[in-house]
Amino acid sequence: METIKLNIDKIQSFVSKEVIYSYEEQANQANSLLHEGTGIGNDFLGWLHLPSSISEKEIEELETVAGALRAACDVVVVIGIGGSYLGAKAVIDALSNSFEAMHSTRRNPLMLYAGHNISEDYLFELQDFLKNKSFGIISISKSGTTTEPALAFRLLKEQLEKQVGKQEAQKRIVAVTDKAKGALRMLANQEGYKTFVIEDSVGGRYSVLTPVGLLPIAVAGFNIRDLILGAMHFETLCSPETPFLQNPAALYAASRNALYQNGKKIEILVNFHPKLHYFNEWWKQLYGESEGKDHKGIYPSAVDFTTDLHSMGQWIQQGERTIFETVISIDKPHHEVRVPFDEDNLDGLNYLAGKRVDEINKMAELGTMIAHVDGGVPNIKLSLPELNELYLGQMIYFFEKACGISGYLLGINPFDQPGVEAYKKNMFALLEKPGYEEATKAIKAKI
Ligand code: PA5
Repeated sequence: METIKLNIDKIQSFVSKEVIYSYEEQANQANSLLHEGTGIGNDFLGWLHLPSSISEKEIEELETVAGALRAACDVVVVIGIGGSYLGAKAVIDALSNSFEAMHSTRRNPLMLYAGHNISEDYLFELQDFLKNKSFGIISISKSGTTTEPALAFRLLKEQLEKQVGKQEAQKRIVAVTDKAKGALRMLANQEGYKTFVIEDSVGGRYSVLTPVGLLPIAVAGFNIRDLILGAMHFETLCSPETPFLQNPAALYAASRNALYQNGKKIEILVNFHPKLHYFNEWWKQLYGESEGKDHKGIYPSAVDFTTDLHSMGQWIQQGERTIFETVISIDKPHHEVRVPFDEDNLDGLNYLAGKRVDEINKMAELGTMIAHVDGGVPNIKLSLPELNELYLGQMIYFFEKACGISGYLLGINPFDQPGVEAYKKNMFALLEKPGYEEATKAIKAKI
C-alpha cells in the first residue's frame, strides 16, 4: 500500500541527525510502554488497536444505522465537543466538496455541528435553520454529562419532537456514549434511542476511529472501511517491532522533542488546502490536551496557507525564533484547473497560462518552506499521495501514535486532561449548580 511520508531533512540545520537519532532508545521504549500497557495513563490505551480490532459486524452496524439516517434526514446535526466532534468534522470536511452545503443536488445529508459552544446566537440560528427541515441528531458524549452538548441536545431534541412527533424523533436520534453511566446513557435507555458505546479505555481525543467519528463520517457518505484500512496499515508500521528509522511516529516524536529541547516551544501545523482546516483543529486538540501539563509541552498552533501567509506569515518569517512547522502536503489534487491565456494580460498572469493551479500552489509551498527555513524555522513535511479516506486513516493513526510516544518522551501523562476541569468548576459555581454551594461562596468573594 502506498503511504504518507515523513520528511525531517529540513530540521537538520537546527538539530543534527545525531541529536534526533539519540532519542532512538527512549522512543522505542516509550512505544513498548504503550504496547505493554505499563506506562502512565495505561487505562486509556484502547485506541492502540482500534483499527485491527473492529469487527465486520461492528462496521456493518455502523453502515446500517448511517444508511437509515441518510434515508430519513436531509440534515444531520452532530452534537459533541472536543474529542467528541473534532475527528468527525476533520475527516468530513477534508473529504467533502467545499461547496457541498450550497449544492441543490446534494447526494449526502448536510452535516451540521452543535454542542461545541454555548453561544445563544449560534443555537438560535441553528434552530431557525432547522425549522421545517428533515433533520436527525447524533448526540455524542463519553461522560454523558458535559454541559455544552447536553444543552444543545435538550434544545434540538425538543425541536425535533415538536416537528416530527416523539415516535419519529426517536428513530432519528442516535446516541454515542458510555455503556452504563452518564445522563446521556440514562436518557437514551429511557427514550429507546439506538446507541453506540465508547469504551472506557478510549479517551475523547483518541476516539475518531470508534463510532464517535465513524458514525458521522459514514452518515456524510464516506468510506469508513478505507479509513480503518489506512489506520490499520499504520498500526502495523508504527508498532514497536518497526526499527526506529522506519517508524514515522517514533521519528516524528523524536524530532519534535529534539526541537523542543532546542528552544522551539511552538509547533505550527500547516496546510495548503482549506479542506484541512479542521484536521488542524483535531490535531491541536490531540496534542494540546495530551501534552500541555505539568507546566510543559509544545504549544500546538495551526495555519491555513496561503491564506495565512498574508497574516501570520509575517510573524512566522521574522517573529521570535521559538517555532517550527509541520507541513501537510498533498501530492495530487482531485480536479484539474488550468490558468487561461488572456489577450490583454492586464493582470500580468500570462506567464502562468496553461499551468495547473496546483503547480502554483506547490511553488508557493516550496518557496514558503525555503523562506521559513532560511528565516530560522525548522520544517517537517508530511506528504499524502492524495486526500482520501485511506491516507487520512494513516495520518490519524500516525499522529495518535506519535502523540503517545511524544508524551512519554516529555515525561507527562498523554491520556488525561485534569486542567479542563478548572473552568467547569468555576462555571458551575457561578451558575449555582446544586452541590457547588461552597465553591459559589468562594468564587463570589473573588468578583
Ligand atoms: O479528549 C477529551 O477527552 C475531551 O476533549 C472530551 O472529548 C470532551 O471534553 C468531551 O467530553 P465528553 O465526550 O465526555 O462529552
